Amino acid sequence: MLLLLLLTNAFVLLPWAGAGRIIGRRKAEAHSKPYMAYLEIQTVSQNYSCGGFLIRPDAVLSAAHCVAMKGTVRVTVILGAHNIRGREQSQQKIPAGRWFIHPEYSHKDEENDIVLLKLKKKARINKNVQCISIAKENEHVGEGALCNVSGWGWTSDKGNAANVLMEVELEVQNEEICEQISTDYQRQSMICVGDAYSKKSPYKGDSGGPLVCNKKAHGIVSHGYPEVLFPEVFTRISHFEPWIRKQLRRFGRKVIPCFPFSD
Ligand SMILES: *[C@@H]1O[C@H](CO)[C@@H](O)[C@H](O)[C@H]1NC(C)=O
Ligand SMILES: *[C@@H]1O[C@H](CO)[C@@H](O)[C@H](O)[C@H]1NC(C)=O
Repeated sequence: MLLLLLLTNAFVLLPWAGAGRIIGRRKAEAHSKPYMAYLEIQTVSQNYSCGGFLIRPDAVLSAAHCVAMKGTVRVTVILGAHNIRGREQSQQKIPAGRWFIHPEYSHKDEENDIVLLKLKKKARINKNVQCISIAKENEHVGEGALCNVSGWGWTSDKGNAANVLMEVELEVQNEEICEQISTDYQRQSMICVGDAYSKKSPYKGDSGGPLVCNKKAHGIVSHGYPEVLFPEVFTRISHFEPWIRKQLRRFGRKVIPCFPFSD
């Protein structure tokens, strides 16, 4: 199993030697994905980065494996970014107060790889920071669907992380492809995405980012396989929608909608 989180040294990349394949992505138009979140994860021994996405002004979804590391002490969420290393007025940096890892998350086979983070304070919704809707329980994304995934992860396996948000369009695959590679693949809770011909893929540092199909978040970047770049496995959001709703109710009785921005 290959996890797609990014190990950073004080949020600067460690050098990493690889074979130099290009992961086939392009720069996203600045602020075209205002739901994208960048997660800085501090543990007692290392720092990591991951992606995530805003689903309510006080709630971000990501992959459980991003925050399930031993000794995770702090998670900070950056919203409204394009160049993550730039000093951008649009950026809002908000610590996560708590995070709720799925109780059946399993690190061994990356089942139920989902976490809901509660922000310490609500994000200011404006043209650069907005929520994305998530797939409902009955909304199943199937083979052949075209979806976008974006992130600040590596742009090649040489280990160059992107400063600006990158995106790639991927196709949902026949699940047999993932089942053939791994017996841990679960149809109800995972999505099999990408193929050997398109030469495009999410990569390290993209973990936790959303798979967006028809303007809704349907998947969460979870893991790949060590011997192959494709396919990749995403957490299937529709399967977890009832769990997500339940956690959001724990955040507080009052429903906090993502009001349309006014500035
Ligand atoms: C992690 O990041 C924090 C905050 O930037 C820094 O103080 C700390 O030294 C970093 N830890 C490691 C192991 O790089
Ligand atoms: C992916 O993003 C590109 C550019 O932002 C857009 O043209 C395309 O329609 C998107 N595809 C999907 C499936 O949303």
